Amino acid sequence: MALSTEELLANNRSWAASVKRKNKNFFEDLAAKQSPEYLWIGCSDSRIPPNEVTKTGPGEMFIHRNVANLIVHTDMNLMSVLQYAVEILKVKHVIICGHYGCGGVLSSMQNASHGLIDKWLRNIKDVYRLHRKELNLIDPTVRANRLVELNVIEQVYNLYKTSIIQRAWQKTPNTPELHGWIYDMHSGLLHDLQVNPKAAYAEEFDQIYRLDFPDLNTVAGTKPVEKSATSGNSVAAGTGKIRIEPLPKKK
Ligand code: CO
Repeated sequence: MALSTEELLANNRSWAASVKRKNKNFFEDLAAKQSPEYLWIGCSDSRIPPNEVTKTGPGEMFIHRNVANLIVHTDMNLMSVLQYAVEILKVKHVIICGHYGCGGVLSSMQNASHGLIDKWLRNIKDVYRLHRKELNLIDPTVRANRLVELNVIEQVYNLYKTSIIQRAWQKTPNTPELHGWIYDMHSGLLHDLQVNPKAAYAEEFDQIYRLDFPDLNTVAGTKPVEKSATSGNSVAAGTGKIRIEPLPKKK
């Protein structure tokens, strides 16, 4: 039977007491400062407690959760979490964790309307559309598992497209590292999908999503770019460069 909220509060008191018995200063030390090395972006599903499945404790993981672990670039909540984690906390890893049997992913594969959440799940339908050919070849009983994986992969790409990650990588290449994981509820195990947005996505990304930051004045891994009077913005396209000429001066 489910616990009452009074029981939850009683549980909390006994938990705090047991932590203090092991380490008298635990809460005072943690209250002074947090310096987590990981940002976890996972599904809101109650069956995947991030700290528990990774054996991490308070202070070790900065956490954001939403339905189906989506990176939506107009989501100010997530973008604020990401910016704070990357630029202020300076996390070393950003982990996107999906899971097989995700209700959000399953719903997105159907046509029934569920109200407001339809708008959120639309983002997963877009992932389906991008990978329709592959998905339609898969046995319908296991098709959802592949969509769960493809959704995580696309969300890692979405992370890579954000100005926040692009700025960070322009300062220090590949930092923070981006990871795409899947949690299997039947085994309790996490699987690393080994997503490398740079390898998988380089050309398409470079052409249209890449942002230049003039204030940084560097290209990742190289010396500062020399400015010349005639230089406009340029967008790398494969090995060549497309030059966008500066606007003519007004007379
Ligand atoms: Co889910």
